[in-house]
Amino acid sequence: MFKIIMYIILAAIIIGLSIGGAHLYKVSKRNAQEMAQYEGQGEAVRRLPGRTLIVYYSLSGHTKDIAERIQKMTGGELYEIKTAEKINRYPWFYLTLKKQLNDKKYPALSGNLPDFAKYNTIFVGGPVWWYTVSTPMRAFLEQVDFADKKVVPFTTQGSNVGTYFADFTAAAKNAKIQKSASFNNMPEKYNQAVDNKIAAWINSL
Ligand SMILES: Cc1cc2nc3c(=O)[nH]c(=O)nc-3n(C[C@H](O)[C@H](O)[C@H](O)COP(=O)(O)O)c2cc1C
Repeated sequence: MFKIIMYIILAAIIIGLSIGGAHLYKVSKRNAQEMAQYEGQGEAVRRLPGRTLIVYYSLSGHTKDIAERIQKMTGGELYEIKTAEKINRYPWFYLTLKKQLNDKKYPALSGNLPDFAKYNTIFVGGPVWWYTVSTPMRAFLEQVDFADKKVVPFTTQGSNVGTYFADFTAAAKNAKIQKSASFNNMPEKYNQAVDNKIAAWINSL
């Protein structure tokens, strides 16, 4: 009996690893295809009219990285959405966050909101959590009225944005939503191509 259980566990591990490996292979191939378009010299970034704000939430640094690149290219100002309490990344935190999303239980945020009236264009970025907008970003959007400002949504993801942009648009009150962009959390080798993708996106706004 013990032997059978061990075989079942081993088979489950092998199947799990094969599915995971196939998924990673598919994602990395897709990224390579996408990034091939942005190889080489990037476009010079055109100046956006007026002042630009880049709002972001980031748990593990990917969205922060993209937000900082946008900031450098636009000369805008950064605003980080911070939770009052640190989100604890214990092994089952994915499931805890899923439950909080389902229950619409969003965390308290710290700090004051920016004065949106000062800005012409507001980039707003966060990670995809469970195919949608993360709970801290939802907490932020609940507090904000964009009052007809141009809002440029962006996200970072592992492979699948799901309904992120539709959900973001529904939650961003009175925002004039502009062209969005999604960035995979890609390996270092795509550094330049990621910058080129951002430059092309900004120039298309
Ligand atoms: C709770 C949780 C759920 C996630 N769900 C998804 C998902 O549905 N689709 C996806 O492509 N990536 C998903 N990811 C991966 C993140 O979107 C991705 O790593 C993102 O770049 C993280 O951004 P950050 O480093 O700024 O926090 C999830 C990550 C977490 C923590």
